[in-house]
Amino acid sequence: MKIAIVGPGAMGSLFGAFLARSGEDVWMLDHREDRATHIEKSGIKVEGISGNFRASVKATTDPKKISGAELIIVCVKSYDTEAVVKRIKSLLGDEALILTLQNGLGNIQIIEDVVDSAKIIAGVTSHGATLLGWGHVKHAGKGETVIGRLDGALTGRLRTIASIFKKAGFDTRSSRDIRGLIWSKLIINVGINGLTAVTRLNNGRLVEYEGVREVMRAAVSEAVKVARRKRIKLAYDDPIQKVESVCRATSGNISSMLQDVLNRRKTEIDFINGAIVRQAKGLGIATPTNETLLDLVKTVEESYDKYIKT
Ligand code: PAF
Repeated sequence: MKIAIVGPGAMGSLFGAFLARSGEDVWMLDHREDRATHIEKSGIKVEGISGNFRASVKATTDPKKISGAELIIVCVKSYDTEAVVKRIKSLLGDEALILTLQNGLGNIQIIEDVVDSAKIIAGVTSHGATLLGWGHVKHAGKGETVIGRLDGALTGRLRTIASIFKKAGFDTRSSRDIRGLIWSKLIINVGINGLTAVTRLNNGRLVEYEGVREVMRAAVSEAVKVARRKRIKLAYDDPIQKVESVCRATSGNISSMLQDVLNRRKTEIDFINGAIVRQAKGLGIATPTNETLLDLVKTVEESYDKYIKT
């Protein structure tokens, strides 16, 4: 299958390499010419828990080259979703499906504003990946990938995509309740990402210090209150235990938000803890811990050139 992956970050590179290795025709769409040239020439190198390998992929900055792709996987940061989807919209053929595997709340709505909802698949993945350089990724944690259509239908095409992912080595299933899954993943990110960005600890270390664990529990409890009020069905019974177990399962991973901070990039805090704060406002639920995390991470990202180095 011709598959285009938009955004050669950690998750995009991981999916690109695994899918290419299993024989799919993978195209990485990048906005940087020098990086696309490098990836096209050297392929994607993977190391970590699934062993070391290199996979050849095609890479381009020209959206026209991805026309004819049956699946387009959006792996850019949430704040770039709108621009990317507008850029590729006219190239989506009748058969093309667009899959968001991004963190945070709001990506589906942004894509739906541009593309017919029947063409959209949303998904969550629990894999941990760290970008070590252009086209070089460390697979740091394994987990399930779940995909679903917005209308909940378990169609043949959804199953085909799940089986392509499985063949590539990703444990994948289809679900009827994608909203519940997005929220279930959101709550994991609420408990992990902002805290790693502020403490500069990897995921596993977050459960080793009682102070940060307390803050994690408070942030997760606020998010769960919002989810319950919105009658979202979470994919697990004990959210705090779940977040802690993800920390352990991805213990060696540097969360995507800490990777952003270490690379002095804008973070997805607005789509994670910020999304909880916004959703809670309309419901009259207090979210002081998420507000604090939002303020702290915003300060971190606005002051990259000011912090005191040791
Ligand atoms: O954003 C991330 O890094 C990941 O979603 C997760 C699950 C927190 C693992 O690092």
